[in-house]
Amino acid sequence: MSVNNLNPNHVAIIMDGNGRWATEKGLDRSEGHIKGYENIKPIVIAAKKLGIKYLTIYAFSTENWNRSKNEIEFILNLAASVIDQESEELNDNKVNITHLGSKENLPKEILSKIQRSEELTKQNTDFFLSVAFNYGSRNQIVKSINKIIQSEDEKINEKKLSDYLSSNKFPDPDLIIRTGGQKRLSNFLLWESAYSELFFLDVFWPDFSEKDLERVVIDFSKRKRNFGS
Ligand code: IPE
Ligand code: IPE
Ligand code: MG
Repeated sequence: MSVNNLNPNHVAIIMDGNGRWATEKGLDRSEGHIKGYENIKPIVIAAKKLGIKYLTIYAFSTENWNRSKNEIEFILNLAASVIDQESEELNDNKVNITHLGSKENLPKEILSKIQRSEELTKQNTDFFLSVAFNYGSRNQIVKSINKIIQSEDEKINEKKLSDYLSSNKFPDPDLIIRTGGQKRLSNFLLWESAYSELFFLDVFWPDFSEKDLERVVIDFSKRKRNFGS
């Protein structure tokens, strides 16, 4: 099978480069995180306009706990306030919001805000936003395997492993974009990305625009996907 895709159904973005965006401007890294979070809503709206149905955004990894206490605290507080501020408007735009990742180590305050926004938007079916926060792909794969073992399901196979992953509500990503210039996945969707098209952009996340997304989608539509055949 070879497919020429007109439009990606599921786009995943590694939103990297907030810190360097700020440092380049002589600002504190925290300013980059603020700008980065401000950029989420316009990109969600742009993705929806482009006909994308599923968007997964990588906001905080299980390895990001190794950062300074100050930076972690800043990001957690920022994320909490952004969920509060933006959930209503995203709901008005018929966006369904879900959390992807581990609940472990997350403060109760942020967990209840996440739960509230999932509850508020759960009836929406136009567009699905999955927020990878406290997410690590290896952690998710191990959890899935443990669930299979506990379920006394006879054997692990590819379908079961996928079904027990918490990303199971979404199809595998058609394309993964990483902003910020690094060319790696940093523990993001390792299982699900088996046949994703990868795009590495030099632009820092706070500067990533609707135009950039549009360009990637056009490039994607010109790529020939073989899936091994
Ligand atoms: C992405 O930007 C946000 C998180 C990983 C939390 P960074 O904070 O990694 O910014 P850079 O890569 O250091 O520029
Ligand atoms: C990946 O960025 C994680 C997120 C964007 C949330 P990192 O900045 O944590 O990745 P590394 O450390 O450069 O691989
Ligand atoms: Mg980074």
